[in-house]
Amino acid sequence: MTPAQQSLEAAEICRLAPVVPVLVIDDPAHAAPLAQALVAGGLPALEVTLRTPCALDAIRAMADVPGGVVGAGTLLTPADVKAAKAAGAKFGVSPGATDRIIAACEDEGLPLLPGAATATEIMLLLEKGFTVQKFFPAEQAGGAAYLKSIGSPIPQVSFCPTGGISLKLAPDYLGLKNILCVGGSWVAPKDAMAKGDWAAITRLAREAAALPRSS
Ligand code: 3PG
Repeated sequence: MTPAQQSLEAAEICRLAPVVPVLVIDDPAHAAPLAQALVAGGLPALEVTLRTPCALDAIRAMADVPGGVVGAGTLLTPADVKAAKAAGAKFGVSPGATDRIIAACEDEGLPLLPGAATATEIMLLLEKGFTVQKFFPAEQAGGAAYLKSIGSPIPQVSFCPTGGISLKLAPDYLGLKNILCVGGSWVAPKDAMAKGDWAAITRLAREAAALPRSS
């Protein structure tokens, strides 16, 4: 799947809701109820980070949840891409982008949201055909003001910013023309997951799903 095709699919996924939950799952038993809670709250696209030993099991469990579109985040190696695809991930997210990761996503047919944080990185990815990119780490790399500025010379690229974004900060991003959605972990707090308080997570998801966006 070419980068251009990957970006078309990534755009569709990003348009499902204003927020993509970024999930760090420690207990595989949390995966299905967590996905159900987020989908029930109106957030269907879910990014499971490959940062915990059970992440791939979590993706497998979440792939069966009706209405969910589960992807794998923190892809760092071609092996991560292969494993994510085999586990049922429908999309991939990487904090940056390397030629090896990009080649692996082409080979596996996994739509990638490749990470970029500078004008040059964004341009290099655009040259390859990626018109939808992750902006990471969003708050630390310049935030909404930076993305607004980038939108003037490089309007062809749309972003899903992640990193340090909260319910309060999200509207600054979602009001920009070059933002499709934002990613964030605030909708799935660790303490709520540990307690199995899925109703609280559905409430957070509902709040996030109601955020207006301009693109
Ligand atoms: C991440 O990779 O952890 C994401 O960017 C989410 O960041 P957050 O935890 O600051 O929302």
